[in-house]
Amino acid sequence: MNQKNMFKSEKHLNREKIIELLREISYPGLSRDIVSFGFVKDIIIKDSNVIINIDITTKEYSVKKKLENDIRNKLSEINEISDLKININIHPPEDSQKKELNVEYKDLVPQIRYKIAVASGKGGVGKSTVAVNLAVALGLKGYKVGLFDSDIYGPSIPTMLNVKSNQVSTENNKIIPIEKYGIKLMSIGFFLEKDTPLIWRGPMVMKAIQQFLEDVKWVDLDYLIIDLPPGTGDAQLSISQLLNLSGAIIVTTPQDLALIDAVKGVQMFRKVNVPIIGIVENMSYFICPKCGEKTEIFGYGGGIKESNRINVPFLGEIPINPMVRVSGDTGRPIVLSDKESVVSKAFNKIAEKIINLKY
Ligand SMILES: Nc1ncnc2c1ncn2[C@@H]1O[C@H](COP(=O)(O)OP(=O)(O)OP(=O)(O)O)[C@@H](O)[C@H]1O
Ligand SMILES: [Mg+2]
Repeated sequence: MNQKNMFKSEKHLNREKIIELLREISYPGLSRDIVSFGFVKDIIIKDSNVIINIDITTKEYSVKKKLENDIRNKLSEINEISDLKININIHPPEDSQKKELNVEYKDLVPQIRYKIAVASGKGGVGKSTVAVNLAVALGLKGYKVGLFDSDIYGPSIPTMLNVKSNQVSTENNKIIPIEKYGIKLMSIGFFLEKDTPLIWRGPMVMKAIQQFLEDVKWVDLDYLIIDLPPGTGDAQLSISQLLNLSGAIIVTTPQDLALIDAVKGVQMFRKVNVPIIGIVENMSYFICPKCGEKTEIFGYGGGIKESNRINVPFLGEIPINPMVRVSGDTGRPIVLSDKESVVSKAFNKIAEKIINLKY
């Protein structure tokens, strides 16, 4: 189907209004709404006819019926709709992925309340930067936070927090996370030989991550932020399957290409039933350090527009600022080294949104 037409707003029927109303409907039995959960697949508007496609994973008839009723009731507020068709498609949970990787879904760290993955379709967009700064920002707000660097291909968090593998200790054969800036940190990179080419195939990645997670002694935490490797491959799926993720944050940059990759990331998490918490647009704009003028290098609003189009919340935008890189390279994240900067404020705003989420 042509995406442009699918999401086009009609003269009388306002797509945003429909989304707004759908956001008031929570998934039966849960407090979270069906839009932010990612269950609304698409909304097709043709004249005064509306078709809503919903994807859910449960076969329970009552859930299907209730959702249909709730949507019908809610949208009856829009008088301009003459015909409303609701298609609720049921995708049995994760069967194909399970078979592929031959693993059961489990939760290796049930003592951690919220497990949030930071992902992107494309490399180098700032995942690790976002993961580190959000983790430290949440820690500064008084939460017990862990950060897990699962990037087997290029772990960068040890550098960003200035910690070394020789600081890792063990206790009764368990690996103890390193404490830095008030958060607990563990990187799979500590256990990889430097410069060893990693030509791991899917099941090996899965096994390595599983074993690693089983060997680390995480204490009770409010949040575990997981920095994922770039892309939508086996490592990302493995983590989703092993940790029972509460949700995923997708990092993107404003260039078109990165946005397309972000969509791929969103689709992957939807496939494995991980709710999308939202999109963070990084390197969004530049503020001139001399005159304070804001320049939107790649044009404005790509992230918001894309989030709306694919029905995921937009969490915020982080400006490009050389100090972010310097902070990363020197091991002191910008939310600590320059608390009053626009960048730090932007990270804090996103952290607030994460805290206020109803999971
Ligand atoms: N807002 C920003 N302003 C300036 N530099 C930034 C910003 N965000 C990230 N960077 C820099 O861009 C580079 C890539 O960022 P980062 O390592 O966080 O990306 P990544 O998505 O984790 O990459 P990879 O896919 O390789 O894991 C780093 O040098 C980082 O310091
Ligand atoms: Mg990274």
